[in-house]
Amino acid sequence: EKVYLNGSIVPHQDAKISVFDRGFIFGDGIYEVMVQINGSFFYKEAHLNRLKDGLQKVNIKFDVDILPKEISKLLEASELTNKDCMLYIQITRGVAPRQHSYPADILPTVMMYAIPKVLPDINEIDAKVITRDDFRWSRCDIKMTSLLGNVMLNEEAMQYDCYETIMHRNGLYTEASHSNVFFVKDNVVYTHPADEYILNGITRIIVLDLCKSLNIEINESPISIDDLTTIDEAFLTGTITQIASIKQIDEHILYTGNKKGPITRKLQEALLKLK
Ligand code: PDD
Repeated sequence: EKVYLNGSIVPHQDAKISVFDRGFIFGDGIYEVMVQINGSFFYKEAHLNRLKDGLQKVNIKFDVDILPKEISKLLEASELTNKDCMLYIQITRGVAPRQHSYPADILPTVMMYAIPKVLPDINEIDAKVITRDDFRWSRCDIKMTSLLGNVMLNEEAMQYDCYETIMHRNGLYTEASHSNVFFVKDNVVYTHPADEYILNGITRIIVLDLCKSLNIEINESPISIDDLTTIDEAFLTGTITQIASIKQIDEHILYTGNKKGPITRKLQEALLKLK
């Protein structure tokens, strides 16, 4: 496995980062995950723009525009040019003696790797999820590497043999530990607005666009935990998750077997066609 580190491509064993890197010490970094399908990265521009945006929000100075060329070099070295794969990009503030404030004249650490990845068949998934209080900070719009909250919440889902953990803040569903969540009620698709309480997923944006082109009504407002029993359908979205149908939320059963709802099915079919 090859790793891109600050302009060099090296075997992963040789990709070494200082213990004083602020990514390691503070989780002070931004990351992206995208997938190459049928020879091109799915919504590459949108992913790179979100990366640019995240770096700007935390004032890490790095020119994202150099990445496409570097990504091509990495894929070639990894023998993944045009192959189905997942690309991980992480940019941290860089190495400096430990201090909380941003050090002056610091050089960011840029790390990327690509691994072969064939996306799971989304139509096979009928997910059970748990719900938990969203105890994360209130800048979830930043795709930062400090993911301990998300990791803790996801681990709980695994303990319960569930696929994901959906979070709620002040009684309103926000998103899941590594995906966005949608609900369908009376043929209207609901999802939390893209404010500071959720990551605005690229798949989330694609799904909203698909709803528009399929004439499915959308309402970007949160669903309350008190409305759970009035929900007809629910699904998760994400780069790897794609659109995963939810069959059970805590004790509440939405459907049994593989009888997922018609709107979820329609959106899954439409998403597949984009690839
Ligand atoms: N996770 N919300 C959170 C908290 C996420 O971490 C992700 C993505 C999403 C969905 O975003 P997108 O559709 O752009 O993938 C929503 C990535 C895949 C990860 O951390 O591995």
